[in-house]
Amino acid sequence: FDIDWDASAATLGGYADFMEKEIAEQPEAIERLLKSRLGEKGILLDELRMSEEDLAAVDRIFIIACGTSYHVGLIARTLIQTWAHVPVVCEYASEFNYEQDVLITEHTLCMIITQSGETADTLTAARRMKGLGCKVFAVTNVLGSSAARESDGVLYVQAGPEVCVCSTKAYTAQMVACALFALRLAQANGHMDATEVSGHYADLATLPDLIRTVLSRAWQDKQAAAVFRRAHSALFLGRGVNSTTAYEGALKLKEISYLHAEAYPAGEMKHGPIALLEPGFPVVAIVPEDRVHDKTVSNIQEVIARGATCVAVATDGDESVASLCEHVLWIPPVEDELLVPIVAVVHLQVLARYVARSRGCDVDKPRNLAKSVTVE
Ligand code: G6P
Repeated sequence: FDIDWDASAATLGGYADFMEKEIAEQPEAIERLLKSRLGEKGILLDELRMSEEDLAAVDRIFIIACGTSYHVGLIARTLIQTWAHVPVVCEYASEFNYEQDVLITEHTLCMIITQSGETADTLTAARRMKGLGCKVFAVTNVLGSSAARESDGVLYVQAGPEVCVCSTKAYTAQMVACALFALRLAQANGHMDATEVSGHYADLATLPDLIRTVLSRAWQDKQAAAVFRRAHSALFLGRGVNSTTAYEGALKLKEISYLHAEAYPAGEMKHGPIALLEPGFPVVAIVPEDRVHDKTVSNIQEVIARGATCVAVATDGDESVASLCEHVLWIPPVEDELLVPIVAVVHLQVLARYVARSRGCDVDKPRNLAKSVTVE
């Protein structure tokens, strides 16, 4: 597969900034990744350097990461547990490094997720796990990075150079890479047969076009951005896998627009954040057609009842949301609801960029942040 690139070679090529360019590159990045990983017998992840027997024996996984990559880890946890039935712990590296006890088994696997491969906290965590005798593999976008060199195995994300400090295409490609790993693991340990794996792979293969559809609707994000122009704070809500979409949406917004944004699992709103709501307060609710849809609609009703302004991410044709919310960022139907985060987050990336630009912020180089943080 093609991972031979040099970040200095990246040019804007007609886009206003790298964030816009990298958001637009997501369908191709995912397509490239998926195509290069399909072999005759299933999913090819050779650089993991794990035998079929080693994979089949894995009985616990620690996922350790920082920032946006930690959000990838939360999605990966759900995919691995659901598809491969292996229990997963997902932790911030900066927290994990100071925990006294790490409960590993002989067959525990450690997965570090770091797009740059250079984040100090994540590398420290990997060294600690290796020191405990645990096999470590790195999900990373950078060939030959410290994470790739120091780990027993690697899973390259192949998203190409990401210049903008905040991660967009590496984020979605990392989620797809983790989905491929979950399928590979599920086939190795017998929780899925080849036909089931092909079915899930086919669902993943629909993602590029679903994301293209979202990108063609950027005007919806542009209109919704007006809600945040004079706001001081915003609340993001979602349930299940999309509580993570809420975390990532809030992170994107605060990273580049300097607007305070907080994310909560929607069901927890009543235990605190509901006190923030007042007329005009912006709330972003991720409410796709899924098994928790109606519960999240109830939360939106609570938000609206307090005069707050709701911007929703919802599935095409969802009248129950359209009738409640001032702005709806529409996504096309996604066959497997576990993959919705990979589609829905694109609206939140585009929204954050419009909000940041309307507030005069430099989206590619936000103040105080670095692309990779090499100090603990
Ligand atoms: C920095 C960046 C974040 C990124 C985090 C983890 O804080 O500003 O955007 O998510 O590092 O980076 P990594 O390279 O380890 O994924």
